[in-house]
Amino acid sequence: MQLGLEGKKALVFGSSGGIGKAIAESLLKEKTHVVVNSRSADKIKSTVVEFQNSFATKNVYGVAADLTKKDEATRAVREAKDLMNGLDVLVVNTGGPAKGSFEDISTEQWLFDYQNLWISFVDAVKASLPEMKKNKYGRILLVTSLAAKEPLKGLTTSNGLRAGLSGLCKSLANEVAACGITVNVLLPGYTDTDRLKELKLTEETVKALVPMGRLGHPRELADLVSFLASERAGYITGQCIAVDGGALRGY
Ligand SMILES: NC(=O)c1ccc[n+]([C@@H]2O[C@H](COP(=O)([O-])OP(=O)(O)OC[C@H]3O[C@@H](n4cnc5c(N)ncnc54)[C@H](OP(=O)(O)O)[C@@H]3O)[C@@H](O)[C@H]2O)c1
Repeated sequence: MQLGLEGKKALVFGSSGGIGKAIAESLLKEKTHVVVNSRSADKIKSTVVEFQNSFATKNVYGVAADLTKKDEATRAVREAKDLMNGLDVLVVNTGGPAKGSFEDISTEQWLFDYQNLWISFVDAVKASLPEMKKNKYGRILLVTSLAAKEPLKGLTTSNGLRAGLSGLCKSLANEVAACGITVNVLLPGYTDTDRLKELKLTEETVKALVPMGRLGHPRELADLVSFLASERAGYITGQCIAVDGGALRGY
């Protein structure tokens, strides 16, 4: 299927590793111009060089920004637009929040995770919308978690904040639909990345939770992002789509 992403311009937050990196790779395979992001200038530099070599392209750039810090998302969008001379696709993928039960989580931690998971998204969208509206084309994609639909034990801030983001995206999708802009949320299931190791979930534990009996590969979610970023997905908006091997029990 021709996705028609060639020459489109995408910013992918949190893309020096894991799911975000797979999304950047998938978009680059479609010849999209891509800005990668993470907190580490060194990791970005090496990711950009790796992508330039493996995709034989110069249309890959990097912007270091820490989404846990106020105004960094806004700056990153501005710099990405300057580097690519435009922006068609915004993918917000943040670092995962801290673990803890309700009584473990301090107010400071809630505010930290609110900035990381919520405000970074709000600011990135605000900074991207004028350009997308001008072009009458935009794809806004947010990576959250299964936790947005079914609480995961010990991931209290993720459970609370990410459920709200689904509501925000539905509301935003309705507001911008007439401008040719779609807004969709991806809910990764148990996916084989460093984050999963950090959460100390062994493959055996996960297998028991997933009807497909295996971990997801980041590219399985990434290719869906490329499709949703394309013109072909122009009538899909306001959706929360899990890529989880059947792990969500509800429907
Ligand atoms: N893997 C799973 O099973 C799973 C399941 C459900 C939900 N999720 C969610 O999906 C998202 C991505 O997960 P992942 O598994 O791909 O994580 P990962 O392997 O830890 O990768 C995270 C990426 O984000 C970057 N990053 C981390 N903190 C950042 C910050 N403050 N500002 C900018 N970039 C930042 C990291 O680079 P630097 O360290 O260089 O900044 C890295 O490139 C997370 O929000 C996670 O909660 C993952």
